Order: sequence, then C-alpha cells, then structure tokens
Amino acid sequence: METKKVLLTGGLGYIGSHIVVSLSDPSSAIIADDCSNCDLKQIDRLKQVIPFEKNQVIVCDVADLEAFEEIFKKHKIETIIHLAGYKAVGESVKQPLAYYTNNLNATLNVLKMCNKYDVKHLIFSSSATVYGPQSSPMDESMTLLKTTNPYAETKAISERMIEDYCLVHPEFSATSLRYFNPVGAHPSGFIGEIPSGIPNNLLPYVQQVASGKRPYLNVFGKDYETKDGTAIRDYIHVMDLADAHVCILNNPKQGYRVYNVGTGVGTSVLDLVKAFEKATGVKIPTEVTHRRAGDLQESVANASKINKELGWKSRYSIEDICKDAWNFEKHQSN
Ligand code: UFG
Repeated sequence: METKKVLLTGGLGYIGSHIVVSLSDPSSAIIADDCSNCDLKQIDRLKQVIPFEKNQVIVCDVADLEAFEEIFKKHKIETIIHLAGYKAVGESVKQPLAYYTNNLNATLNVLKMCNKYDVKHLIFSSSATVYGPQSSPMDESMTLLKTTNPYAETKAISERMIEDYCLVHPEFSATSLRYFNPVGAHPSGFIGEIPSGIPNNLLPYVQQVASGKRPYLNVFGKDYETKDGTAIRDYIHVMDLADAHVCILNNPKQGYRVYNVGTGVGTSVLDLVKAFEKATGVKIPTEVTHRRAGDLQESVANASKINKELGWKSRYSIEDICKDAWNFEKHQSN
C-alpha cells in the first residue's frame, strides 16, 4: 500500500514550493500545478534544497475536474493543501469572470474530490484581504465585510464553501489560513518569488531596484494617517508561513477553523525600504507618487489565536526577510 500523500494544488508556486521544502517528509508531497504562473524549472530548484522527484509533479488544471480526478485514482491522498488560484488583485478587477470561474471551480473540485475519495484534511490558502476595509489589528472574530476586489471575493466565497462542506462532514478537518503579506525567500537562495513582468508587490519591486533592473521605487502615497505617511502592512517571512502549514498538518482537528498568519507587527513602506538598505547595504532610491487604487491604509494581523491554540509564532524579523530576499535576487541575477 502506498504511503499517504499530501497533495499541494498550485504547489510549484511561491508559497507552495516553500511548504514542500518545509515538510518533514517531502517525498509524501504530490504537486498539481498548471504552470500558468511558474515553470517546470522549479523542480530543479526544489532538487537543490530537498530530495525531490520529477514524478511528484502532475501538470494539470485543478479547475478541470476530469484531469484533476486522475490524481486521486492513482494516489491515496490524505491531506490537500489548496493553493491553486489566480492572485493578482488589479487583474481580478479587470477580469472578474476569469477569477470567479477559475478560483471557485478549483475550490469546488477540491471539495468534490475530498468527498469522493475520503480525503480527511484540507488546508486552504486564504488571505487577509477577506477582511475588507476594517481597522487593524484584524482578528478572526471580525465579521467579513464586502471585499474590495474579485480576487478577495473568491477567497471569501471559498472559505464559506469549505465551512458549509464541514457542516455536513463533521469528521472532516479543514483550516483556512488568512495570509497577511508573504515575502522573503528560502535562506538557500534557490527558491523565492519570481514575478512575471513588472512586480506588483513591494518587496519584489525593491529587490529589482537593488539589482539595477529598475531605477527607483514608486512609493504609492505619503499622505496616509500613519507615522511617516506611507501605508502599513504585516510582512511575514514565507518560511514562517510555510511552518504554519506544517503546524496545521501536524495538528488536524475535526471541524472548520480559521487562523490569521501574520507577525502582528506593522511595517510602513519607508520602514521596509530602510530595513532593506540596512540589511543589504544597497541604497534604494524612491519617488513618492499618488496612492494606488484600492489600497488599505493599514493591514496588520492579530496573530494571537494560532499562537494560543497551536503554539505557532513567526520567528523571522524584517531584517531576515530583506537579507533572504536579496540573497535570492542575487542568485537569480547570476
Ligand atoms: N507599494 C508601493 N510601491 C510598489 C508596490 C507596493 O509603495 O511598487 C505599497 C502599496 O501601496 C502597499 C504596500 O506597498 O501600501 C504593500 O503592497 P503589496 O502590493 O506588496 O501588498 P498588498 O498589501 O497590496 O497586497 C498583498 C497581496 C494580496 C493580498 C494582500 C493581503 O498582493 O494578494 O497582500 O493583505 F491579498
């Protein structure tokens, strides 16, 4: 009998690949990925860090039920970590139907397979963006408001779909992890975030300014009501985020649970630039421009629930984040 497997949908991507390298037994991982936002070279990068076989990766679209079901016919899947989905906020505003079709069908197919193949445990990659425009620190007892874009809406709806499934499958264990701002890279420098085209997110953009690919950073707004006028986020090292998944994997509990995954520490755009300069010795030129549409002033987690209930706590500082991000960027440029 084959050992029980952990299926990671979208597992070749930025967050999924850091989870795979953090598993106590990476050979138990099966990855389903359509490679729409990554490429198969990621397998070679994973091999630099852990023992990993090419046949652990199945190229398939999770939203395509027939193709996705083939995995369950071949492998005994005990747990699914569901990460697959489109994830660009701005793009989702322009293409709402593509986001609803892809992201919701993917979650629906995951639940259908849990039902049909008796999968015991699900961990869902959700986002702090489900809170909508509420004041920080955000905690899990807050009622979710209407979100500000279709991407966020697909996360909120997926959470509700999973919760409803749990109501009629009391033996099932499901957890939604609401990620705050995942950043940084594996300390080896082999895996990290590889944005396609111009980076949307702050730290990948800063990395490219540092490596000379872009001349300066645009600071989107310096007129927020914060200590230096720039917006505040809760940046969490991707290895800490990966560890939170491992923690849930090791502590399944029947029923539906939700946890914030953040540090509880707010960092402004200018704080992050200063921390990057200090950690790397590289100067980041900046230019202040207008606010980016849809941005919140502040998004910081109350991360006490996962700490109290499971003992998980972030370990990496903002300096560690910047060092590892820069190490990865230099590896990429070589
Ligand atoms: N920013 C800049 N310049 C840039 C890029 C970003 O000033 O070139 C600013 C933004 O205005 C924002 C902050 O840096 O104030 C962080 O922006 P990011 O794009 O890095 O992150 P967001 O908080 O906007 O969004 C991220 C993910 C979403 C996710 C959300 C959860 O991109 O997918 O965190 O809170 F939903």
